[in-house]
Amino acid sequence: MPHRTTSSSTFRSIIPLICLLCLLPCILAQGPPPKRFRVPGVGLSLTPDYGTAAIYFANGSIAEVAQIEGRPEYKAFMRRKEAPSSLKTSLCDAFPPTLQQATLNFCSKPPDSASVVSLLRALKYSVEAYLGTTFCFADVVIPDSSRTYQCNVIEKAIIAVGLRQTHSILNAGLFAVIANRGSWSDDKDRPERVILSVDYSRSGLNTMLFCDDEDSIDDLRQVYSPDLGAENVETALKGFVEPPFGHSPMGVKLPDHIDRLVLYGDRVSDREFLETLRRVLGTDLVENAYVFDPLFASAVGIAESSHLRMRRIDFNTKPAIGCRWRSNLYAKARWEL
Ligand SMILES: *[C@@H]1O[C@H](CO)[C@@H](O)[C@H](O)[C@H]1NC(C)=O
Repeated sequence: MPHRTTSSSTFRSIIPLICLLCLLPCILAQGPPPKRFRVPGVGLSLTPDYGTAAIYFANGSIAEVAQIEGRPEYKAFMRRKEAPSSLKTSLCDAFPPTLQQATLNFCSKPPDSASVVSLLRALKYSVEAYLGTTFCFADVVIPDSSRTYQCNVIEKAIIAVGLRQTHSILNAGLFAVIANRGSWSDDKDRPERVILSVDYSRSGLNTMLFCDDEDSIDDLRQVYSPDLGAENVETALKGFVEPPFGHSPMGVKLPDHIDRLVLYGDRVSDREFLETLRRVLGTDLVENAYVFDPLFASAVGIAESSHLRMRRIDFNTKPAIGCRWRSNLYAKARWEL
């Protein structure tokens, strides 16, 4: 019965194959960690004059990629306090997000959005050149994220250049503090610390006060004065650091003095500015100031935050259509990042 023998031997060789197929998911699960853990974070910081881009890699190393000057239209846009009056932004806010790209030109003054799009595109190209591939996610900080007109235009411009954010547009000051946090000295007499961040740039002064209680960093106050003349810095600073500083989120009354000073911006090493700081804040605080890469600090901080956000298993922001497949940063499986 040769025929019978053949069929049973075929059957016997199929069994191990079926077993192997059953085990395949287990074998794959034992493989390398999910690719999302290795996706680098990209951070962009838009100042009133220029934009900076930084990359935060999974191994903790950083790359400060580019500083690109904005066009005059961009500088005018970043200095606007509110939407130009001719625009009915309330109508624009009513559009669903999927239509944002189509409404970009209608809902912002065309030179405003075009100038942001061209700066973002230039920053994106620089990051792509560094990475050697395309990427799909980036996060953006600006000096004052309570300016809704700027946030709206920038959010739509990010989508227009084919990127998506992992969280909303946030304050540059907070992320300059986060970038400096790695070098905090370890003097724990109490958990809450008052942190002052000062951005001094050719565009002016941006001061923020934070409470750092080790679990989170919460902002207490902010004064942003673009185009503040050097002669007004002392008065502005004095008014800003006036105690009391209020309470921590846990309701603990904060001390009346500043524990840490973080400096960033393109003019923080200006001698006259440092003299002014010493007069207002005292020599000690200024000598021990944290000044991690003042031009790139906020871009580095937001790049780290973006990387951490993408590592989270509940991160499910959709990239632009087709973006993931053009890039070699992401897993190809649909359920992975
Ligand atoms: C970290 O990763 C980046 C990108 O893969 C690489 O260029 C860099 O050399 C690595 N740094 C270290 C210290 O391993």
